[in-house]
Amino acid sequence: MQAFLKGSSTQSNKLQKDKAAPGTSTEKRARSVPWVEKYRPKCVDEVAFQEEVVAVLKKSLEGADLPNLLFYGPPGTGKTSTILAASRELFGPQLYKQRVLELNASDERGIQVVRQKVKNFAQLTVAGTRTDGKKCPPFKIIILDEADSMTGPAQAALRRTMEKESRTTRFCLICNYISRIIEPLTSRCSKFRFKPLANWIQEERLLDICAKENLKYSKEGIAALVKVSEGDLRKAITFLQSAARLVIDQEITEKTIVEIAGVVPSKMIDNLLQTCFKGTFEKVQSAIKDMVDEGYAATQILSQLHESVIKQDLNDKQKSAITEKMAVVDKCLVDGADEYLQMLSLCSVIMEQASSN
Ligand SMILES: Nc1ncnc2c1ncn2[C@@H]1O[C@H](COP(=O)(O)OP(=O)(O)O)[C@@H](O)[C@H]1O
Ligand SMILES: [Mg+2]
Repeated sequence: MQAFLKGSSTQSNKLQKDKAAPGTSTEKRARSVPWVEKYRPKCVDEVAFQEEVVAVLKKSLEGADLPNLLFYGPPGTGKTSTILAASRELFGPQLYKQRVLELNASDERGIQVVRQKVKNFAQLTVAGTRTDGKKCPPFKIIILDEADSMTGPAQAALRRTMEKESRTTRFCLICNYISRIIEPLTSRCSKFRFKPLANWIQEERLLDICAKENLKYSKEGIAALVKVSEGDLRKAITFLQSAARLVIDQEITEKTIVEIAGVVPSKMIDNLLQTCFKGTFEKVQSAIKDMVDEGYAATQILSQLHESVIKQDLNDKQKSAITEKMAVVDKCLVDGADEYLQMLSLCSVIMEQASSN
């Protein structure tokens, strides 16, 4: 029981810490914790930009009547942080371990696990006071992070447990895609959508970290960081930490960020598009080969091509045909298709559309 009460994510963080510490004795302090953990909001008030969610959640915290929750939205927008902070506020650090069960995708979560772990934990009865005498809600919280990766049967098994244990247990499901959660589960939860973070909020958080870590930076550097992370603050913070390691005691510039994020130079993208519009198949083929050989990720090329294509002087029909193909290519890449072939098939469609003018 104790083993999984701790939750695997905290354990793996500890492992990383232990690994990172030796060897870099001079900078041990700065490097021991990943910054995403170090700067994770400690209380719900620190969660930025998700005002509606925080307001509703705080109301529930005051009254201590929490419904089952379902958080959904893109990565790095504060979903995990919010429920962790809320549980900590509810139970305090001491009771936390007894009252909160955290399971994420790295845990085995087939139907068997839901039946056993979740059921065992949900059936424990709880008191309405803390060890320090303060009142606390008479229930436990089970957090199922990345719930969209749970199998259908496991989700179905959860449905019954959720209902049966409703007196003593609240569930918090977290996912990126709400469409992957079965309807009987979504209808049993209050749903909260997490918005991608606005640029200015991201900038604010990043500048805050820069100040705390004593980093030097240029304005363009931070702007580039916000742009490449596309509303995902976790990504932005991780890039910032890598950048800080790369340019010790120097300024973090736009160039550093572009390098770390693997952004394809816009010249290369323009060149590829122009070749598609005017060049021959051979030239397109070799341009793609060069890019893939340089080590640029196809998903990155795809997203930059997308940005660029919609600004081009093409008619609606051409643009829609191209973007439709992009969606297909994106799916294939997610499924592990060959990068070179996918790019080639996309560029062929761009060529075909451009020449149909
Ligand atoms: N709304 C937010 N307010 C403050 N920090 C945030 C917010 N969203 C993300 N972060 C930062 O990004 C990191 C990852 O957030 P997390 O809650 O794990 O995202 P999610 O679970 O939505 O993918 C956190 O450590 C925190 O530093
Ligand atoms: Mg998360």
